[in-house]
Amino acid sequence: MHAWRYWIGIGAVILLLFIGIGLHQPAPPVFVRSPYLGIEDDPTTTVVVSWKLDRPLPGVVRFGPWTEYEKTGTFSSAVSVSADSGTEDFVYHVPLSGLSPDTEYAYRVDIKVGLASRESDVGRFWTASSDLDHFVFTVYGDTRTYPDRHALVVKAMETDHPRFVVHTGDLVETGGVEMLWDERFFPAVAPLAADAPYLTVLGNHEQNSPQYYEGFSLPSGGGKDGKEWWSVDYGTVHLVGLDTNILTLPHGFRLNREQISWLKEDLAAAKARGERFIFVFFHHPLFSSDLEYAPGNTGLRTLWHPIFKEYGVTAVFSGHCHNYERLVEDGVNYIVTGGGGAPLSGFTADPIPGSVKRAELLHYIRVTISGEQAEIEMVPVGKMEGNSVTQLPPEPFDSLTVPAVQTSPSTLGS
Ligand SMILES: [Fe+2]
Repeated sequence: MHAWRYWIGIGAVILLLFIGIGLHQPAPPVFVRSPYLGIEDDPTTTVVVSWKLDRPLPGVVRFGPWTEYEKTGTFSSAVSVSADSGTEDFVYHVPLSGLSPDTEYAYRVDIKVGLASRESDVGRFWTASSDLDHFVFTVYGDTRTYPDRHALVVKAMETDHPRFVVHTGDLVETGGVEMLWDERFFPAVAPLAADAPYLTVLGNHEQNSPQYYEGFSLPSGGGKDGKEWWSVDYGTVHLVGLDTNILTLPHGFRLNREQISWLKEDLAAAKARGERFIFVFFHHPLFSSDLEYAPGNTGLRTLWHPIFKEYGVTAVFSGHCHNYERLVEDGVNYIVTGGGGAPLSGFTADPIPGSVKRAELLHYIRVTISGEQAEIEMVPVGKMEGNSVTQLPPEPFDSLTVPAVQTSPSTLGS
C-alpha cells in the first residue's frame, strides 16, 4: 500500500473520532436565571445563592471575602451541589453558611458539563452583624407589566448599594406563568439581586403560585412552605413580611388567625430582644387614597392596625396601588410604594384623613438606618408622559426621620 493512502486512512479515522466526540458533547449550560441572593434566618452568617438552569446540572459556588478576591482574583471557599439538588424546574438554592459577620464577600457560580462550562459574573454581598446599626436598604413594589420600567427602578436602586431589598408584591402579571418570571421579572432585577439579598411578600398577582415559593429563599415564619409570612432580624432592625391575600384562600379565616397570633408573638419577641426598629411589609394597604382602592383594606385594618399601634411598629410598607403615598395613623407610619413598573394610578380628589404626601411616579423607598434614628425617603425614578418615561433626578420627593422604637439593650434603663 502507498504510504499516502495509509496516512489518509489514519487522518479520516481521527476526523471521524473528533466528529463523534463533538456530536456526543452536551450543549453548553444556560443560566435561565443568573445568580440572585436571598436570606433566611441568620443573615449574620448565611446568605443563599440561587439560580435557574436549562436542565439539571451540578454546580459549584466559589466565594470568599471581597478584599481577598480583589487582591488575588481567587476564592478561598467553595460549595458543590449535585444536579438533582434543584427543584423540578431546575432552580437551585445554595446557602453559604459559616460566614463572618459584617463582611463583604465575592462569589461566582460555575456550571460544568462535559467539556462545556459556564461561569456567572462575580457578585458581591455583605453579611449583617447583630449590632449593625448603620446601613441602607430599599423597598419597592408592583413591578408587573413593564420590565423596562422595572429595570429603570432597579438601576436607580443599585446606586444606593443596599444591604438588601424588599418587594411589596405583584412581582409579575400572573404568578403561575413560568415565562413571566424567567423572561421578564428576573432579567430586570438581575443586576440588583446579584448583589443584594431579595426579600418579598405575596401580591394578588402571584396567585399563591408554586413558582413564587420555588423562586425565593425567605426567612421562616408560617403558612404555605413556612414562608407565606416571615420575619428576620437584620442588625438592629426587625423585618416582618405578611400575606394580605390570606382571606381569599381556602380556610382563610383560620389561616389569618394563625398569622395574627404568630405576628403578636413575633413582635413581642422582637421587642424583648431590643430590636430598635420594626418594619412590616405586605401587599394591600390598610390605608390609601388611590383612585380605585381608597380608603384601603378596611377588613384587615380592623384586625392589624391595633397590633401595629400596640407594638410600636416603626413603619408599614405596602404596594398594590401603583403610586406613592405616606400616611400617619395613630402614630404609625404607613408607606404605599407601588411604583416599580406597573401602570401608574392617581388619587381621589379628597385624600383620606392621615394622608401626608402623594405622587404618581415610578419610584422606590430608601431607608437609612443611623444609630437611634432612621430616614425613610421616597426617591423618584421617572414620570409617565403618555406611554413614555421621562427620567427624574434622584432628589427625594418626600422624607421622614423616625426614632428607634426603643433604645438599644445596652442603654435600656440608663
Ligand atoms: Fe396588587
